[in-house]
Amino acid sequence: MPDPQSTDAQGISHLPARVPLHNTPMGILATARAGRRNVLELIPEIATRQPMLSGRTGKRWHMVMDPGALKRVLRDKVEDYPKSTVTKLILEQAIGDSLFIAEGAEWLWQRRTAAPVFSHRNVAALAPVMTAAAERSSQRITAAHGRAADMFAEMVAATFEVISDVTFSGGEGFGRGAVHRAIEDYIGQAAKVSLLDILGVPGWVPRPGRLLSGRAMREMKRVADTAIESRRMTGRRDIPDLLDLLLEGEDPKTGRKMNTSELRDNLLTFIVAGHETTALTLSWALYLCAFNPAVQTEARAEAQAVLGERAATAADIANLPLTRRIIDETLRLYPPAAFLSRTAQVADELCGREIRPGDTVVLPIYALHRHHMLWENPDQFDPSRFADPKAIDRFAYLPFGDGPRICIGANFALQEAVIILATLLARHRFSTVEARAPKPVMILTLRPEGGVWLGVDPA
Ligand code: HEM
Repeated sequence: MPDPQSTDAQGISHLPARVPLHNTPMGILATARAGRRNVLELIPEIATRQPMLSGRTGKRWHMVMDPGALKRVLRDKVEDYPKSTVTKLILEQAIGDSLFIAEGAEWLWQRRTAAPVFSHRNVAALAPVMTAAAERSSQRITAAHGRAADMFAEMVAATFEVISDVTFSGGEGFGRGAVHRAIEDYIGQAAKVSLLDILGVPGWVPRPGRLLSGRAMREMKRVADTAIESRRMTGRRDIPDLLDLLLEGEDPKTGRKMNTSELRDNLLTFIVAGHETTALTLSWALYLCAFNPAVQTEARAEAQAVLGERAATAADIANLPLTRRIIDETLRLYPPAAFLSRTAQVADELCGREIRPGDTVVLPIYALHRHHMLWENPDQFDPSRFADPKAIDRFAYLPFGDGPRICIGANFALQEAVIILATLLARHRFSTVEARAPKPVMILTLRPEGGVWLGVDPA
């Protein structure tokens, strides 16, 4: 039956795909069932209307949607709210004690060492890799003209080319395909149920195997170590990639440099954290453009006026404001990291409620971004919301988190997304495929189940 909120008298939908949020209290078994289906369904509908919700599913948890409280957790009291142990358990085996996972001093020195790697200048210098990937992706899409194609698969291919070229830029026996498969396996198997664990569902509740493909993972690490060692010997390339920059980097406070396994864990972290997230952003953005042809037409006109026949470069970004707003709005409606979670270390108060040490604090970014107290028509796709970024409460919009642990690759991701999206919109026309609306499902990231199938035609 059509959703009355999202359809008009003719039954035509005006709202893009979303997750049905539940509105009755769920017990442990129902929680487990919903969690296995789609962890986003664990967010009650009321989380998009209240500043904070608390409960107990095995252990005490709080969902925080209040921008002031989020600021406290992510910025003002960041040391009292480290990342939850579950997040760490899930990711540790793949990426060791790297930037994403480490806490305290172990985190701080790595962050100080890696921060300059992602400076505006360094990221801009990597743009030609993104332009080349946009060009190749566009050619593959041209080959599919007149048909429907899975744009999620296509964007995964494009962003993987980028991230593998800027981490281990070829020529070093780096088996792109093998590493890709190992990462996919890992994310698919290990992370499926993270929110179940976060909400403290007891260990006896069956969950999909956490059987890591250990051999593939070991092989991936071995290949990466070999590539790092060989780069040490050959020296940096003309345009330094992330490996060169990190090899040269040192902690400005102590002079400490990363050894091979630290370098490897951080580079693999960039791949895991940066590749699928950006692919998701791009494929949801293409879906939204197909869903709203008027926005697509306007964005195409912008891209064609700026680019003509060529693919976009870093220098074009300032002239592509609508493309950028589409990306911002996509990250609001489909934040790839739809949940963050923390474990309280000390007694505290959030929104006037008691927080005890050990409590789990969930930051449901998906619900925050669709909150009725913070956004007008929250489920509607409207890039013009971002026309004046200063009008948006910083802690109401957190696709990259905030505070000291804010995503280190945010600028890299935004640059890549604008370059690829503008290039594709200038050359191709995307349309929705009836009965194939993508379904958002939360695995470690917010993914479209079954892909994003869109009709593709010449612009
Ligand atoms: C659209 C794409 C991306 C999204 C939505 C995204 C989102 C996030 C979020 C929400 C966090 C904070 C997690 C938390 O506080 O619990 C984070 C952290 C991080 N991201 Fe991203 N990310 C993206 C792209 C990238 C890219 C391209 C890279 C690297 C090349 C990257 C590397 C990292 C790293 C290393 C951290 C950990 C930082 C720290 O704890 O100091 N991300 N990301």
